[in-house]
Amino acid sequence: MPEADEIIRLENVYKIFGPQPRGRALKLAKDGLTKNEVQSATDHVVGMTNVSFDVKRGETFVLMGLSGSGKSTAIRTVNKLHDITDGHVYVDGTDVQSLTGSALQEFRREKMGMVFQHFALFPHRSVIDNAGYGLKVQGMDRKERDAKALEALELVGLGPFAHSSPRQLSGGMQQRVGLARALAADPDILLMDEAFSALDPLIRRQMQDEMLAIQDQLQKTILFITHDLNEALRIGDRVCIMKDGAVVQIGTPEQILTQPATGYVAEFVQDVDQGRVIDVETIMQQPVVIRPGETIAQVLENIGKGGSGAFSVDDVGRPTGLLVPEDGIRASAMGTTDPAAALRIDFETAKGSQKFNDVYASAGRGLLLAVVDDGGRLIGALDPREIMEEMGRVEQLIDGFEREVFM
Ligand SMILES: Nc1ncnc2c1ncn2[C@@H]1O[C@H](COP(=O)(O)OP(=O)(O)OP(=O)(O)O)[C@@H](O)[C@H]1O
Ligand SMILES: [Mg+2]
Repeated sequence: MPEADEIIRLENVYKIFGPQPRGRALKLAKDGLTKNEVQSATDHVVGMTNVSFDVKRGETFVLMGLSGSGKSTAIRTVNKLHDITDGHVYVDGTDVQSLTGSALQEFRREKMGMVFQHFALFPHRSVIDNAGYGLKVQGMDRKERDAKALEALELVGLGPFAHSSPRQLSGGMQQRVGLARALAADPDILLMDEAFSALDPLIRRQMQDEMLAIQDQLQKTILFITHDLNEALRIGDRVCIMKDGAVVQIGTPEQILTQPATGYVAEFVQDVDQGRVIDVETIMQQPVVIRPGETIAQVLENIGKGGSGAFSVDDVGRPTGLLVPEDGIRASAMGTTDPAAALRIDFETAKGSQKFNDVYASAGRGLLLAVVDDGGRLIGALDPREIMEEMGRVEQLIDGFEREVFM
């Protein structure tokens, strides 16, 4: 049974398409045969095989995978647009498979809104009527429905277009009406199947940003499907990667990037801008700290061969200066032994929670960065060379994996 903070849970779900879904095909899938093997042996299509995941309340959970990997099939089991062949699907404690008729309708209406890739608007109805359509179907009267539809349109930035005709809207704006329609009924869960995939890249990013902002405000549970890993990593709290109907890996964007479970995941990952998701904390190193009374020679020794520098700190541990080896060596050559004489104060600081990309410009100066906590105390050091290496690391990982065949 699901835990309290879970709102969606799939447990060992199988979906077989064909005339006898519960026959030999299911048995073979359960025995661990792949989608292709089952298909060759039985002429049945494996939509999902042994899929388990849970989505927490307020979480944005992304299903990612190539075409045919089973994403849409999975999302459709959540509102029972598909019956499943085996396993369990729970939504907010309800066993979805047990629902039929009006109970199912009510469940869909109250619990979830759905947004698709090509959102079809009624061309002869105004934008506000389109946004309020679901409410109308529910039998809500005009006044209340318009109020709710307008509220939703305002959320997606289309308030001023409420009384326009859909024809006057761009593709991106039409897609927003789709989102507004889903939001108007104020469901707990949003199911979004490639909702932004048809939009051109710039508009798409805008939509992602807006969705993140709306999500900040409303804290819905979002099950989002995309075949674009960049999009998945950008908006997902967690990402579930699917292949051939099976789950390959579930993790935070950072886990997916830094610990790809298989070569398949790594292949995806290599196209991604990793700087956006990796935390400074993940790769910072233990800083070398200059102790009171130490000479330059001692500090240089502590920095060691190949090290990039040492920090002086004040009495609460905040960094006050940086000694880089070249400066130390130069000062020593001139007979200076006190590190204070060779310290730079033009070093950059970063917070542990910042992302690589945020510190990229600072790193460009080539100097060791001081990583500090919220109180400004030194907790680590980030070598700009390290950043470059980390960026390349995932690519090396890929080489390390035996290449799996894409089928
Ligand atoms: N109604 C159906 N009848 C038969 N096979 C189906 C049906 N729906 C889906 N499938 C098959 O199930 C598999 C998974 O399809 P699904 O639509 O879930 O993939 P997807 O990951 O959403 O792909 P896409 O990115 O192309 O939308 C595919 O092999 C597909 O051919
Ligand atoms: Mg699909």
